[in-house]
Amino acid sequence: MTTANGQKLNIGVIGAGSISGAHFGAYAGNEDAVLVAVCDKNEARARAAADKYGAQRIYTDYHELLADPGIDAVSICTWNNTHAEIAIAALEAGKHVLCEKPLCKTVEEAERVQAAVEASGKLLQVGFVRRYASSVEVLKRFIDAGDLGEIYYAKATCLRRLGNPGGWFSDKERSGGGPLIDLGVHIIDICWYLMGRPKVKSVSGNTYRKLGNRAHIKNLSFYKAADYDAEKNDVEDLANAVIRFENGASLMVDVSFTLHAQKDELSVKLYGDQGGAEVEPALIVMGEKHNTIVNMTPQIDNPTFNFEDAFGREITHFVNSCLGRTETLSPVQDGVEVTRMLCAIYESAATGKEIHFGE
Ligand SMILES: NC(=O)c1ccc[n+]([C@@H]2O[C@H](COP(=O)([O-])OP(=O)(O)OC[C@H]3O[C@@H](n4cnc5c(N)ncnc54)[C@H](O)[C@@H]3O)[C@@H](O)[C@H]2O)c1
Repeated sequence: MTTANGQKLNIGVIGAGSISGAHFGAYAGNEDAVLVAVCDKNEARARAAADKYGAQRIYTDYHELLADPGIDAVSICTWNNTHAEIAIAALEAGKHVLCEKPLCKTVEEAERVQAAVEASGKLLQVGFVRRYASSVEVLKRFIDAGDLGEIYYAKATCLRRLGNPGGWFSDKERSGGGPLIDLGVHIIDICWYLMGRPKVKSVSGNTYRKLGNRAHIKNLSFYKAADYDAEKNDVEDLANAVIRFENGASLMVDVSFTLHAQKDELSVKLYGDQGGAEVEPALIVMGEKHNTIVNMTPQIDNPTFNFEDAFGREITHFVNSCLGRTETLSPVQDGVEVTRMLCAIYESAATGKEIHFGE
């Protein structure tokens, strides 16, 4: 596969806020990629990133970046409500796309992005960064070798006691929702991926708005959007759900931006008929040997999610996929399926009913 300069993949990054630093850092460390342009509505932010990471060009309008023939691929690091529109425009302009999670806000948008991928023949990798963590790659080998047998239950929790990032994250119009679409997307995806991507049968969910964003709390810091503003908050504080799959497996999940919990909690657990595993808080595999239960702790550098390592691996995989050396681990179809699950949880919560698929 050829690139614009025949050798390295020329990259444009759209959106230069908080998460873009992980993309810029990973491209800087990748010898097959060159950052050539940065775009942000906020010109000073685009300029600061371009100066820091050595990009030649800055734009405030993403259409202009996409019209730049010297760009082969883009990272989309903007608000959720812009992902579909920018991804479709990028694909139509002949660029490969790495789109931050969630793929978009609605199933209708997700299907339009998928159609654009198919029409363009370009690659779209969904930013399901947890799939690229080294601990997950290790566990996937155990699972593929049958060490867990048939995985029939998974349980994932990501509870923040204080962690509404404010700004666009808490503006439903721009985010599509609260902790479910922001945090739930990661843990639902990682369970579903490790369970072998079974077909969804039904979804039952609940969402709550009981505590607000608790912007009055002092002496405890938390992740904030680049343009932090606690003024607007119309997203849920807490969501929980049960997802049933056609193969009989089930997934239980709960996520919060704020909750009267003793501490933050992150856990991702999978249970099969031959063994079990925990991805978080740290990789461990459970099984039996000689009529004895054994807990096996893989000896690896990053037994828990390491942000920099995982983003580096995600971006290396994207670059290699764009260069035709491998296939992406997180294709657009998976983004569409996860969007279906997230939207069904919101629909179930709003209607008070279980949502059934494929009937
Ligand atoms: N993978 C992860 O672990 C992870 C973590 C945090 C955020 N994210 C995702 O990354 C995305 C960005 O989140 P963030 O925390 O960096 O937000 P942010 O608000 O800090 O940054 C977003 C930037 O996008 C810019 N922007 C918005 N619309 C634009 C447009 N149409 N054209 C050009 N620039 C535009 C804003 O000016 C801002 O600088 C979100 O989709 C979020 O879900 C992923």
